[in-house]
Amino acid sequence: MRLKYVKDAKEQIANAPDLILDIPRGTHTLLNQIVPSEMPIEVEIGAGKGQFIHQLSQQQPGIFHIAFEKFDGAIIKALHKCQETPRNNVLLIRADAENIVDFFTPNSVEKIYLNFSDPWPKARHEKRRLTNQKFLNQYKTILKQNGSLVIKTDNRHLFEYSLIQMNACMQFEFISLDLHADDIKDNIVTEFEKKHAPYGPIYTIKAQFKEDNQ
Ligand SMILES: C[S@@+](CC[C@H](N)C(=O)[O-])C[C@H]1O[C@@H](n2cnc3c(N)ncnc32)[C@H](O)[C@@H]1O
Repeated sequence: MRLKYVKDAKEQIANAPDLILDIPRGTHTLLNQIVPSEMPIEVEIGAGKGQFIHQLSQQQPGIFHIAFEKFDGAIIKALHKCQETPRNNVLLIRADAENIVDFFTPNSVEKIYLNFSDPWPKARHEKRRLTNQKFLNQYKTILKQNGSLVIKTDNRHLFEYSLIQMNACMQFEFISLDLHADDIKDNIVTEFEKKHAPYGPIYTIKAQFKEDNQ
């Protein structure tokens, strides 16, 4: 994803504290304390320019949506989208999600979305893939029992890798080898998806963690 450097990104973030937080590396904020206690929480990791979280939070006013994105240039675009239509159920987090477990109390998240995560094809970068066991362990901690991990990717290698990683600890609810051909209703097309879908299928996985004794 090509992104422009945004000179006043830090200032724009500081000016919209109800919509976006900048969390410096090595620090974290317990986000459950910010969310109204009665609202279910859903999380997107790697929100990019924010089309998904923008649309989903409008469609689901009763759910609190939290989106992590590590690059200023992308999350500022997400901020502008969310500012177009005021709402009180979305929070953008400018942070790397590598220690996402520190941001939530255990068993407090209903769903985690990974939309077109960076595939990190080189073996030496395996730990950066968002479906690496290191990340799955954290998702398991913060997700509620029966909470879901929902993945979309156009990358066959990341899809296969994710299936293998998840198979050890999760049960699959839904898999599509061609989301657009399957004509699933309510699919929100992300910026990346719009650009890349013409060139090949979109793979999808929805799964829940197995209970420890299963
Ligand atoms: C290929 S883009 C996809 C963006 C968006 N989800 C879409 O579908 O249009 C992947 C995004 O994930 C972000 N990202 C990757 N790893 C991340 C991490 N560990 N924490 C936060 N954001 C991350 C990248 O900065 C990038 O913006």
